[in-house]
Amino acid sequence: MDSTPLRSRITGTGSALPDKILTNADLERMVDTNDEWITSRTGIKQRRIASEGEFTSTFAVLAARRALEMANCSPEDVDLIVLGTATPDFPFPSTACIVQHEIGARNAAAFDVSAACSGFLYGLSIADKYIRSGAAKKTLVIGAEVLSRIVDWSDRNTCILFGDGAGAAVVEAAHGDGNNALLSTHIFSNGSCWELLYQPGCGSRNPASNSQTLDEKLFYIKMEGNDVFKHAVRAMEDACTAALDANHLAPNDISLFIPHQANRRIIDAVSKRLAMPTEKVFVNLHNYGNTSAASVPIALDEAYRSGVIKSDDLIMMAAFGGGFTYSSALIRW
Ligand code: COA
Repeated sequence: MDSTPLRSRITGTGSALPDKILTNADLERMVDTNDEWITSRTGIKQRRIASEGEFTSTFAVLAARRALEMANCSPEDVDLIVLGTATPDFPFPSTACIVQHEIGARNAAAFDVSAACSGFLYGLSIADKYIRSGAAKKTLVIGAEVLSRIVDWSDRNTCILFGDGAGAAVVEAAHGDGNNALLSTHIFSNGSCWELLYQPGCGSRNPASNSQTLDEKLFYIKMEGNDVFKHAVRAMEDACTAALDANHLAPNDISLFIPHQANRRIIDAVSKRLAMPTEKVFVNLHNYGNTSAASVPIALDEAYRSGVIKSDDLIMMAAFGGGFTYSSALIRW
């Protein structure tokens, strides 16, 4: 029997996006905005939007199947599904349970994590702890969103930012330092800022059945953009510093940085503070906008499948979101 400690390995990644594309030119016809403003302030050019009949679970299931296929893992062998989302199919049951049923992972425990845009890295951290403790062997971590259903399409401050989609990873137990090893995860919260980015309605404070929820449109995302921006930069830098310190690494050692895809200016500011050269920073938000919990796993899957990630690369991922929550993870690919 191998006595080296149990480690998590990422053995498969997958992603899924709606077919429907909403460009900045389309938004110009919906609100008082223009491509130049959106591009220069955010870096976003287009985003994918779910069609009628498509839900958060629709994309989560597709992403999960692709990740399982890459990992050559049967759904029945999965013993844990953790799904990060701010836009579940229903308040309950969890979207993870719907995914469990759809993919046939009948031996898995399944639950959602509410950590907004940090949902995938929070899920990865939970899966890693289960694996290191020996409580799980094959896990599925998913980040999935249909934010377009809680975005106010008449509010130019927010509607330009968000998109829909899902990403997933199969995370398996292995002994020793094999390939694709998850070296560390770090998760943090700062609940004092919860009111800067949230969905006021449809919970127990402002139920969906309440007339105030309807009259004041409390079911839409509310955000203080400038404040969120400043917190996001500092928090993602802190999360990355925690990851680097824990592994005795310097920014220079990192092969690829995959930050949460919220805003090009946030990504540039964090990279600058970390002295991370632009060519080492993975960016795809021009195509998808901010897909919240889905953004990091979509980017990881795209980076891997497009050949950007090579064997032995050190990959640093970081996220920030409503709560506030912030998080990081390091992988030796
Ligand atoms: N098109 C054109 N003008 C717009 C606009 C749009 N879509 N949205 C806002 N404006 C206007 C504002 O009304 C304001 O006009 P005023 O000066 O006449 O009042 C002006 O542009 C500047 O607005 P401001 O909010 O200061 O812009 P900004 O440079 O801070 O950019 C965000 C706004 C939302 C892009 C930016 O704050 C941001 O990205 N914040 C973080 C959001 C985020 O990432 N959230 C998720 C975190 S996980």
